[in-house]
Amino acid sequence: MAPQTQIFDDANQLAQHGADWIARFIAAKSGPFRLALTGGSTPRALYHELGARQDIDWALVEFFWIDERFVPSDSPDSNYRMAQETLLSQISAVEKNIHPIPTTGDPDDAARSYEAALKKAYGADTLDPTRFLFDLVLLGLGGDGHICSLLPGSPVLEERSRWVAAVKHGRPEIRITLTYPSVQSSRATAFIVTGKEKAEAVRAVRTGDMTLPGARLRPEGELFWLLDRAAAASI
Ligand code: 6PG
Repeated sequence: MAPQTQIFDDANQLAQHGADWIARFIAAKSGPFRLALTGGSTPRALYHELGARQDIDWALVEFFWIDERFVPSDSPDSNYRMAQETLLSQISAVEKNIHPIPTTGDPDDAARSYEAALKKAYGADTLDPTRFLFDLVLLGLGGDGHICSLLPGSPVLEERSRWVAAVKHGRPEIRITLTYPSVQSSRATAFIVTGKEKAEAVRAVRTGDMTLPGARLRPEGELFWLLDRAAAASI
């Protein structure tokens, strides 16, 4: 299935129209909606726009993260804190529906614990290709073509049974990340990418450069690209 690409004039336009797009996606489901949030800096404006909307029934939405830095939840580097500041603090989400990735104790135990939370939400211990884990996965893209904390050359790229893994090399802090099997199990997957520094990674991922983790993603459902003009400059 060919990806559907929307190119916006700038990051602010992407944030506004991206929020519209996500709101429509949630409304169309009219039932429990499992949303997997990316971290990083790109989605801040989008999450802020989403939080400002009055037309989303947030009680239907379960929030998950596609990766996390193994830092305290109040650390400036925490993906949970970023989403809390920009989105969750603005909306009336149901507390039990917010599933941050644990970042205390042993990283491998934290990964196991998150995997158990995903399996509980899914209602099964194995992924069924005819039934999605997520309704929508939002993905950032690193300049090196990484997604989640699936970094180029990392052994975790080969993980095909575990849903969540601890990544202990390649970044200043340990990361907890979804693996390909879990992040691919989504009705819709949307890359959210802005800035000229990402243009080459966007081009390489979209043309199938398999040295880049983003290019190795095989989403089960529909794939969307939400780009600003700068990030789309090379496609
Ligand atoms: C993280 C993210 C990571 C991010 C990309 C892009 O924990 O940092 O999950 O995968 O999406 O690195 O980051 P920026 O949006 O900050 O460029």
